Amino acid sequence: MSDHQIDIQDLSADEWDELNFPRPATNDFDRVVEAAISRRGFLSGLLAFGSGAAVMGAGLLNSTSAQAQAAVSRFAFTPIAMQTDFDVHVPEGYSWNVVAKWGDALFSDADGYDVTEGGAVDKSDRIFGENTDGMELFSFQGRQIIAINHEYVNNKINLPAAQDGAPANAGDVLKLQQLQGVTVMEIAETDAGWTVVKDSPFNRRIHHNTPMQIVGPAAGHDLLKTEADQTGTLSLGTMNNCGSGRTPWGTYLTCEENFNGYFGSTNADATYDPAVAAGYKRYGITAEGFRYQYHVHDARFDTAKNPNEPHRAGYIVEIDPTKPDSVPVKHTGLGRFKHENAAVVLAADGRIVVYMGDDERGEFLYRFVSNGIYTPGGSTDGLLDDGVLSVAKFTEDGKGEWVALTPAATGMTLPEILVFTRTAASKVGATTMDRPEWVAVNPLAIEAYCCLTNNARRGATDDAGKPRANAGGDVMDPNPVNPRAKNNFGQIVRWRAHGDDHAAATFDWDLYVMAGNPTVHAGTPYAGSPNVTQGNMFNSPDGMQIDSTGLVWIQTDGEDSNEGDYAGMGNNQMLAGDPVTGEIARFLTGPKDSEVTGLTWSADRRTMFVGIQHPGGSWPTGNGLPQSAIIAIKRDDNALIG
Ligand code: FEO
Ligand code: CA
Ligand code: CA
Ligand code: CA
Repeated sequence: MSDHQIDIQDLSADEWDELNFPRPATNDFDRVVEAAISRRGFLSGLLAFGSGAAVMGAGLLNSTSAQAQAAVSRFAFTPIAMQTDFDVHVPEGYSWNVVAKWGDALFSDADGYDVTEGGAVDKSDRIFGENTDGMELFSFQGRQIIAINHEYVNNKINLPAAQDGAPANAGDVLKLQQLQGVTVMEIAETDAGWTVVKDSPFNRRIHHNTPMQIVGPAAGHDLLKTEADQTGTLSLGTMNNCGSGRTPWGTYLTCEENFNGYFGSTNADATYDPAVAAGYKRYGITAEGFRYQYHVHDARFDTAKNPNEPHRAGYIVEIDPTKPDSVPVKHTGLGRFKHENAAVVLAADGRIVVYMGDDERGEFLYRFVSNGIYTPGGSTDGLLDDGVLSVAKFTEDGKGEWVALTPAATGMTLPEILVFTRTAASKVGATTMDRPEWVAVNPLAIEAYCCLTNNARRGATDDAGKPRANAGGDVMDPNPVNPRAKNNFGQIVRWRAHGDDHAAATFDWDLYVMAGNPTVHAGTPYAGSPNVTQGNMFNSPDGMQIDSTGLVWIQTDGEDSNEGDYAGMGNNQMLAGDPVTGEIARFLTGPKDSEVTGLTWSADRRTMFVGIQHPGGSWPTGNGLPQSAIIAIKRDDNALIG
């Protein structure tokens, strides 16, 4: 990084990661590659291993381009142009309204909560939290209950300005902790649009101190025991809730991503058991901590005092949105890593399959298959814990396999595999990925998609000239599914399970789309696949859902400078893709500086709910303070919208 003073309060989790593991000083490697490799050369190179067209997008699993051209577009909207302003845009014939924004009261006793530094600590768990992310809507007894993640918090805005983001006491820490986590709330459609049902019995905040149960094969293991919980089965809080998922039995899954940032140490010289220290290194737990600085005022987050506390975060947590008093459950069976989301689907025989990404450069894509069968109305005990966790290995011939993380394959015990999952996956030679974000399953085909958002270090070398590796030392050379060095744009990989069974050990794969800039990088791999055009270009695909008609909705969390590599892309956005034709069209643009993340539908599918995280400017109220919010989007003719 440069020599100017860096303010940790202004860094995103990714930027902090970058700071802790800096890039090489020179960053023109990509320009050299771009000059050297023509698009034609890239195609020929891929054809050498047999599936160039597949890798370029209009491939194996798409229909042929002739078929695509003959097909009638399935998009019920006119695509919109890129935007650079501080507002939300949707196509003609569609409208949106804000459902809830950071600071809105969920209960009357929190009316008038001031989201600036004046917000009261004791009401900070009675309001809609900050920075929304994954969300799912549940229909229960005719009521619409929505569960929404609040991924992170901006210390500077929520704490007194003079403190410049640093918590001064335990109360400050508690306030930050309560502004994150999950909101469960009832919403209803009124003449004025969708709105929160204040004081509904279903309204609930789950945050960094909410009691929860730890279950699954690692529950009760020594690695999970702390001074406050000698059983290793009771945890407080769910942290850095990123993407979401839902089970067939109607529960919400919230996924703990950059949990490492909440921990730090008051003793930089503290020593740890070697296995614990190795885990800290692999998962990015440092003595300094990230901007939250909980450890200074809350000993639970001080690794010098509670070295096992970080082992109790990094899981997928199940919440029953219909039971406000239920205790959330952390499922160790789904592994511990920087969980993005959870895409749940049934195998051919009724076993539960969960696809999951670990969002860090060079980390992996996972799949869990339960031992038990799901029966509607039957017991769901163990369906997210007792089973086999596997990791993806992609090969050049457009094939791939799920490699089971067993004690025999890894030399680790099952609890160790589930707590140090990254280490286990490295041991079996999993394919390093360009930051796996959301996975989505196609309801109309036995296939799934994963956004690989970007990876500027792919194929790069460090200052000493050594090849870049993930935190476990797995070198990140370009590979078939992550083919571009210095990948600033990202791609979406798709796999089709063999035997039409999501539990099959093997699959076929292709790249559904490779994002890029066909204006700036014409004739190179960085132009993107053929389904990327000047009219729909984007970077850093992240959120993703596939609707009931089989359209793929892609949300972006990328660079929105609209300059250089990113010229012509504008603000972050949401696009719709037709997986049959490969066609992709821009549906929504977010306010400048924001990320578009989180997507779910009303029970009648006439409303689509979309989240806007960390907007800029003065969105949405114009009051000078940008506020993360979820919006409802409808067609003006009230027709179906997915
Ligand atoms: Fe929270 Fe990887 O996004
Ligand atoms: Ca994300
Ligand atoms: Ca992202
Ligand atoms: Ca984010």
